[in-house]
Amino acid sequence: MADRYLTFTGTAPGRFLTRRLGLPQPAPLKRWSPQRPALEGGRLLLTAGKSELDLAGAGLDLAASAEQPAAVLLDASGVRDVETLAEVHAALHPVVRSVGESGRIVVLGAPLDPADHHQAAVQQALEGFTRSLGKEIGRGRTVNLVRLTDARAAGSTLRFLLSPKSAYVSGQVIEVGPCDETAPPADPERPLAGRTALVTGAARGIGEAVAETLARDGARVVVLDVPQAEQDARRVADRLGGTALGLDITAPDAGERIAAALPDGLDVLVHNAGITRDRRLVNMPAERWSSVLDVNLASVLRTTDALLTSGRLRRGGRIVATASIAGLAGNAGQTNYGASKAGIVGLVRSLAPRALAEHGVTVNAVAPGFIETKMTAAIPLFIREAGRRMNSLAQGGLPADVAETTAWLAHPGSGAVNGQVVRVCGQSLLGA
Ligand SMILES: NC(=O)c1ccc[n+]([C@@H]2O[C@H](COP(=O)([O-])OP(=O)(O)OC[C@H]3O[C@@H](n4cnc5c(N)ncnc54)[C@H](O)[C@@H]3O)[C@@H](O)[C@H]2O)c1
Repeated sequence: MADRYLTFTGTAPGRFLTRRLGLPQPAPLKRWSPQRPALEGGRLLLTAGKSELDLAGAGLDLAASAEQPAAVLLDASGVRDVETLAEVHAALHPVVRSVGESGRIVVLGAPLDPADHHQAAVQQALEGFTRSLGKEIGRGRTVNLVRLTDARAAGSTLRFLLSPKSAYVSGQVIEVGPCDETAPPADPERPLAGRTALVTGAARGIGEAVAETLARDGARVVVLDVPQAEQDARRVADRLGGTALGLDITAPDAGERIAAALPDGLDVLVHNAGITRDRRLVNMPAERWSSVLDVNLASVLRTTDALLTSGRLRRGGRIVATASIAGLAGNAGQTNYGASKAGIVGLVRSLAPRALAEHGVTVNAVAPGFIETKMTAAIPLFIREAGRRMNSLAQGGLPADVAETTAWLAHPGSGAVNGQVVRVCGQSLLGA
């Protein structure tokens, strides 16, 4: 459904009226397209404190000066005390204004040091700084914090955050572990070439966009959806040169059937299928509870276990599950859905270290906010409008925004990103 308000605020009378009334001022976001693979303008590197990061190794094309930067990378990983924290202000204060529309600010921080509470305090301060700047900066610009120890491990993450692909990701704190040994992909335009990706619930909506984006990145895609939606799944698969699999993921043997359909194995598993059956708890029959928990959580646990233990998910593999901001903040009428999506967060945090150590597979989640799909088009007008505007970018996201985030997590160079829950919500006001 078109966002008419966004179109209206883009006109001169619309801008005048909405400013006078103090209404939100969404800016059209500059998203990735083949015609616009990168943001126009330089990438400025600033430093606060004494950094030990070797950013040259990340291949990011950074400059020490840029007049109207499209992106600013502030390396604050060496900030260890409150005095040096002032350098964050000193570095960004003069340049924030000049960052272009849909520009990016990425702050680099260090993991919190449990043996140094001064370092931990100021590194945590960067989180509050990042989230506050994200809320005030406007004009479609985003601000994110990456905690890291080795810049080489963060190349895919920084390229994503500094690009138009992360248009709807703001106010996030992402931790990147130590360097993973994966060699860079032979063709950076098709990083998933030679890999197989299975996306559940991919006949439409966000899942369809995920399949499309992974195929763009070179993956052979398997489009899974319920047998009733098999025709749509086949249409998507044909368009992307992939295959369709009609399967209800709540079937007790779904994992085995996926394994049987993929005798050569699988590299990327995207748990996207999900349903809502909203009711307040007082009015919620047991069936509404169990169907949501079964599709959104139990089947994710079952198929993940089956594909990991059977070894069908190859080393270097990626699991990306779908949470929701309702699972982080809670939502009235969604005790079942909120429980199922919070369960995904628990699954990711617990399984990620073990899956990497034992199977060489990373496990992360995307947590979408308000995304323009059939699901959200069905929400009554006023609630829908509130959902769309209650975020720092004052608009809904698109399925492509979730898809690009998934593609970054699925990237062969993202092996050091593990156990993360990344919100794709335009920095929604709901939840932390
Ligand atoms: N749209 C949003 O704003 C939003 C926000 C937060 C989270 N999410 C999550 O993103 C995911 C995709 O959402 P969407 O808006 O594209 O939904 P959608 O309803 O448009 O698509 C979901 C797809 O999953 C399939 N599916 C449902 N049950 C299945 C089953 N048992 N087996 C196989 N396939 C099944 C459906 O047939 C459908 O094609 C869901 O997990 C949803 O909870 C969406």
